[in-house]
Amino acid sequence: MTEPLLEVSGLHKHYPLTQGIVFRKQVGAVRAVDGVDFTLGRGETLGIVGESGCGKSTVAKMLVNLERPTRGQIRYKGEDVTRLSGRALKAVRRNIQMVFQDPYTSLNPRMTVGDIIGEPYEIHPEVAPKGDRRRQVQDLLDVVGLNPEYINRYPHQFSGGQRQRIGIARGLALRPEVIVADEPVSALDVSVQAQVINLMDRLQSEFDLSYLFIAHDLSIVRHISDRVGVMYLGRIVEIGRDAEIYDHPTHPYTQALLSAVPLPDPQARERRERIILTGDVPSPTNIPSGCRFRTRCWKAQERCAQEVPALAVPAAFRLATGPAAHPSACHFAEEKQVVPPEERES
Ligand SMILES: Nc1ncnc2c1ncn2[C@@H]1O[C@H](COP(=O)(O)OP(=O)(O)O)[C@@H](O)[C@H]1O
Ligand SMILES: [Mg+2]
Repeated sequence: MTEPLLEVSGLHKHYPLTQGIVFRKQVGAVRAVDGVDFTLGRGETLGIVGESGCGKSTVAKMLVNLERPTRGQIRYKGEDVTRLSGRALKAVRRNIQMVFQDPYTSLNPRMTVGDIIGEPYEIHPEVAPKGDRRRQVQDLLDVVGLNPEYINRYPHQFSGGQRQRIGIARGLALRPEVIVADEPVSALDVSVQAQVINLMDRLQSEFDLSYLFIAHDLSIVRHISDRVGVMYLGRIVEIGRDAEIYDHPTHPYTQALLSAVPLPDPQARERRERIILTGDVPSPTNIPSGCRFRTRCWKAQERCAQEVPALAVPAAFRLATGPAAHPSACHFAEEKQVVPPEERES
């Protein structure tokens, strides 16, 4: 494999938890991101999936430097960007851009679409000389499938899907190499989601982009991802190529998420085992000992409360080449059985 474009290792973001108004005293920490590792190759799409509150947005914000990691490294082309400052940092930031979740609130309602898309040029004037900006913005509108004549319109004059196209055009303005898309279609109608995903797919080959594509639902990232990482309570619990995750999930959390994905084929729907996840994601201020998923896991045993399972290829699959041979952070990843018989719905 060639050197990855982006290499994240041991990434942590802990927010201090304080008590008192005048004499603020730290009483704990919100472990929003608690040890995340992954790589992103050139031209690749890595999907990141997990329930709300698992730390996905916090990872995204650290990648685009909106948050500083508490600990860990983010290497871009081999260089640790968390140590950069000044001009070097600016150059890296130009190459890693973000597309935000909510096209209704992420666009300034008082700015024209042209100003919104062209705003990054204020910080990076070298990318588009002033006299050429209008034309470049019109090009970007065209590229995302919007009429270039709409350049003077305001966000409220567009539909949700069109607004997300505007958000994507802004993300492309600086010609980045990496786009971090934080739930870019979650706020959109189902019918519009596919259009925006298809657009992003096309733009990826057109502009040779690498994507970190975040979603809370495994069905959304399926079509666009080459690999998928499943996040739970601040950590990646399973990661692998598409087929490995969808056809051979070995972590109970992934199995549960997959069981909630709608299947178009009614027979497949009948055959599959339904796993109902009970309870909510525990608070990141109070992460369970051992395996952090154990409090909601039907496979959990004594050992799970004591030993933290490493994210690694299970020993039994280490020499195999099949779809089971991918990293999973479960003590029982080698077991075939998905749901205990007594909990199966007949
Ligand atoms: N600035 C912050 N201060 C304290 N806690 C935060 C902050 N930002 C996020 N969190 C907490 O960190 C956890 C992860 O949040 P987030 O990254 O937004 O998750 P996701 O995007 O997966 O829904 C949540 O419990 C959230 O409440
Ligand atoms: Mg989020």
